[in-house]
Amino acid sequence: MNNPVNNSVKRPAKKSREKSSAVSQKPDSKSFTEADYSLQSLLGGISVEKFLAEYWHKKPLLVRQALPNFGDWLDRNSLTELACQDNSEGRLVQFKRGHCHLEYGPFEAEELAALPKKNWSLLVSGVNHLLPQGDWLLHRFDFIPAARLDDLMVSFAPPGGGVGPHFDSYDVFLIQGQGRRRWEISAQDDLTVVEGAPLRILSEFRVDESWDLEPGDMLYLPPQLAHNGVALTDCMTWSIGFRAPKAEEIVNQFLTYQQDKLELPGMYSDPALKRQKHVAEIPSAMLDWADQTIRATTRWDKSDITDFLGRYLSEPKAHVYFDPPARPKSLDAFSKAIRKHGVALDSRSQMLFKDNAFFINGERLEASPNLTSMLIKLANKRYLEPGDCTHEQSQEILTLLHLWYQAGYLFPAA
Ligand code: SIN
Ligand code: CO
Repeated sequence: MNNPVNNSVKRPAKKSREKSSAVSQKPDSKSFTEADYSLQSLLGGISVEKFLAEYWHKKPLLVRQALPNFGDWLDRNSLTELACQDNSEGRLVQFKRGHCHLEYGPFEAEELAALPKKNWSLLVSGVNHLLPQGDWLLHRFDFIPAARLDDLMVSFAPPGGGVGPHFDSYDVFLIQGQGRRRWEISAQDDLTVVEGAPLRILSEFRVDESWDLEPGDMLYLPPQLAHNGVALTDCMTWSIGFRAPKAEEIVNQFLTYQQDKLELPGMYSDPALKRQKHVAEIPSAMLDWADQTIRATTRWDKSDITDFLGRYLSEPKAHVYFDPPARPKSLDAFSKAIRKHGVALDSRSQMLFKDNAFFINGERLEASPNLTSMLIKLANKRYLEPGDCTHEQSQEILTLLHLWYQAGYLFPAA
């Protein structure tokens, strides 16, 4: 997620990777269950269309009780457990004598247990890959295109804790889990940041409006809006973050993509060479040849851009690895299992499409047109029901799904 923590500092390379021992904190009977959720209450009774037209990318929206009863899915201990896992992206922000300090995980449990009573915050990104509830929550925001959805970050802060006043480059939905937090916002234009700080903290912050959020409340903030979240009690914040390619990044990546595809036989030759007046002058014939060759190889059309964008946007992040099954089921056993239970994409899988071009985890899929509607359903819903795989195209789709199962991209639904 793009928040001030990773806007400013490059994350160091990961240590070795170990398999997730994801926390399996079960909500108790009084806490939030999926049945408590409705898109209507998530957006405070306004339609998705109205939200997009009036708020998205434009102005903040506070929704009281967007997720009624929400709050018990994670507490300090279970977030600490996640932050100590080798496969998690944790960050610890501390303010000591007015100075901000930033450390990256994985952390030692003892280190996190020994933190002071106030003025720090522990943040874990990619919680949607670590907890099934996180993945479920992230996909409640599927009214925004998957190509824009980034990840779920969860933070814990004791009273007074937060990451300081800042602005983010992307839209964010901030959901209050346990505890209470004061969110302050400012319409200020001055976005000057403290020089030399490890996070992009604003030098000046003028509060224009503030709200105290209770468990289940949600605040949507558009990009570039100055804000500050201060824990009033021990407090958990769940942030649904978005992404959008930067112009420089997309052009750089496209040029790399083009370069990777280059296969250029031949070289400049000059059988008709004439003696030049100035030996040091670049021959005009060489300039013309370079001009024509470069123009011919840097032409592209919309289908090249689709291919590039689909691969690029569905590419897993650098720290994401898939876990292929240790003892994969045979095609027959797999087919039986998914005909009985259906099939679900792994939470780490990103599947996108444009027209008939399908992409999964950076790869392009070649499939016959009669699979299109099934693949669109899999990409949109992230699962196929048992009945979806029983008609006549089933052998082709089963073979394809089996390949993805062997790569760890999906699994038979339980
Ligand atoms: C937090 O959870 O403390 C940070 C969220 C944000 O301000 O973007
Ligand atoms: Co922020």
